[in-house]
Amino acid sequence: MCGIVGIVGRDAVADQMIEALRRLEYRGYDSAGIATLEGGRLERRRAQGKLANLQAKLVESPLAGSTGIGHTRWATHGRPNETNAHPHATARLAVVHNGIIENFRELKQELQADSVVFETETDTEVVAQLVSRNMDRGQKPVEAVAAALPRLRGAFALGFLFAGEDGLLIGARHGAPLAIGFGEGETYLGSDALALAPFTDALTYLEEGDWAILTRDGAEIRDAEGRVVERPRQRIATQAYRIDKGNHRHFMAKEIHEQPEVVGRTLAHYVDMAGGRVALPEALPFDFAKLSRLSITACGTAYYAGLVARYWFESLARLPVDIDVASETRYREAPLEADGLTLVISQSGETADTLASLRYARSQGQHTLSIVNVPTSTIARESSAMLPTLAGPEIGVASTKAFSCQLTVLLCLAIHAGRARGVLDPARERALIDALITVPGLMAEALTREGEIEGLAREVSKARDVLYLGRGTSYPMALEGALKLKEISYIHAEGYAAGELKHGPIALIDESVPVIVIAPHDGVFEKTVSNMQEVAARGGRIVLIGDAQGAAEHGLDTLATVTMPDLDPVVAPIVYAVPIQQLAYHTAVFMGKDVDQPRNLAKSVTVE
Ligand code: F6R
Repeated sequence: MCGIVGIVGRDAVADQMIEALRRLEYRGYDSAGIATLEGGRLERRRAQGKLANLQAKLVESPLAGSTGIGHTRWATHGRPNETNAHPHATARLAVVHNGIIENFRELKQELQADSVVFETETDTEVVAQLVSRNMDRGQKPVEAVAAALPRLRGAFALGFLFAGEDGLLIGARHGAPLAIGFGEGETYLGSDALALAPFTDALTYLEEGDWAILTRDGAEIRDAEGRVVERPRQRIATQAYRIDKGNHRHFMAKEIHEQPEVVGRTLAHYVDMAGGRVALPEALPFDFAKLSRLSITACGTAYYAGLVARYWFESLARLPVDIDVASETRYREAPLEADGLTLVISQSGETADTLASLRYARSQGQHTLSIVNVPTSTIARESSAMLPTLAGPEIGVASTKAFSCQLTVLLCLAIHAGRARGVLDPARERALIDALITVPGLMAEALTREGEIEGLAREVSKARDVLYLGRGTSYPMALEGALKLKEISYIHAEGYAAGELKHGPIALIDESVPVIVIAPHDGVFEKTVSNMQEVAARGGRIVLIGDAQGAAEHGLDTLATVTMPDLDPVVAPIVYAVPIQQLAYHTAVFMGKDVDQPRNLAKSVTVE
């Protein structure tokens, strides 16, 4: 989603802003722009499409100002063209914005009635015009922003630059994250630490409702009531934010290949290897033994991680699980027991629907536990307890390593719950840990099947529709496989529970539709083979992602078999994530798609 950067610098800031915007590219965007002060006058350069287009404009007409704001836009209101690109400006100020101003129509009408003329279709321009009108009425920048902020509804972060006010920026946070960075005679504003990592490792995250006045000497932070407040300054380990693709062509490829390492790191955080037991890094503020059910909510890939975990919590901890996508959870008005537990899962920790569901659970008196990859995120900070996934920054828009790390933490948590509820005895827990600690090695082995998968990807790239099937924990993996393929290759793909096939989707089967069956040799393998037979009988072309034993037993003609290493079925989803991701990746690469930044998608979805 949109990314914000602002710099009150000593020299020309345009290059620094481009560098920061490049670090925000991973969030997904369709236009970009910057504004600086040239001799006190606001000057903007904006371009549709990639940052390279904006850079080309800057080469043609450079900007020399030392105070500026910049933005990558992911369109919500208005098409992704240059007119709608940020910064939006009036003669008095320029503004960049992440999020949605929900009452923009109402404000626009009010301003239009006051003869204000709008140039764009965006909600953001309303903010520019509102603050500008306050200034027309004699208010100084700080007063004008202070008067405008309480009038805005929605979830947003804002950055303002004012004509004639070199050395001044204002930033505001209301539902979307914003950080302030402190340098030597320079101060920065950014949507996240990643954007500011090349300039500083000293950061302060604004809290809900905060806004800040930035000058070269630092920042004054005020809360929603306008009181000057102190917020903690943190040291961010910038080396953790190095962004490069290593020897890989795409971030997604790099992140797929990093999985043995990051899953290993995550396991080391949650498992007492010598003791053969799960050892959570911190005590949880609730007791699994006292829970009558667990509610899980998340979006997209994180939701599929939750669906896998439902099988684990129910079988390993005998804990009933209720799970839904967060965009539904937040409006369902589900009765939730006070002192019950809601578990939310999110890579970014900023997903608007997941955050709203977390807040709903809190309003019902529930404990809230989050599994997040960004420990400084809003979801992490607002939950009663947080378990980090140690995947490191995930830059490719399609989630890969964050997903396998989410699964790893979820399995550890289910084992912890199983012990707490008296379901798992020490011997069974040790057996599960023995299986878990083989996972990084198994993932490394799974990665070696890449050549076979590349060949298969050529076949899949010719298809118009692809089906994914699975049973048990392989069912959510089928959903995830289909999501991964469609989001980066744009081939239509659907995942189904293998047993559901005959209730409708079987009508789609013919020789043009590859059917990818995810089936380790587990307790439901034979049932899945029956479903494969139904596909084969209708001329469907089957691809089995399974193991040697399954491949030897099923006795059917397949288009291809991708043979995964033998493993304990309980850990299969974590290992089988690898071929699923690689198949989507190679199909998209083969088709020449923009794998790291697929069309229409955003990394951090901070709007509903
Ligand atoms: C798909 C993908 C998305 C995210 C979803 C939730 O590859 O990345 O479906 O999983 O937008 O995002 P987070 O995990 O940041 O809450």
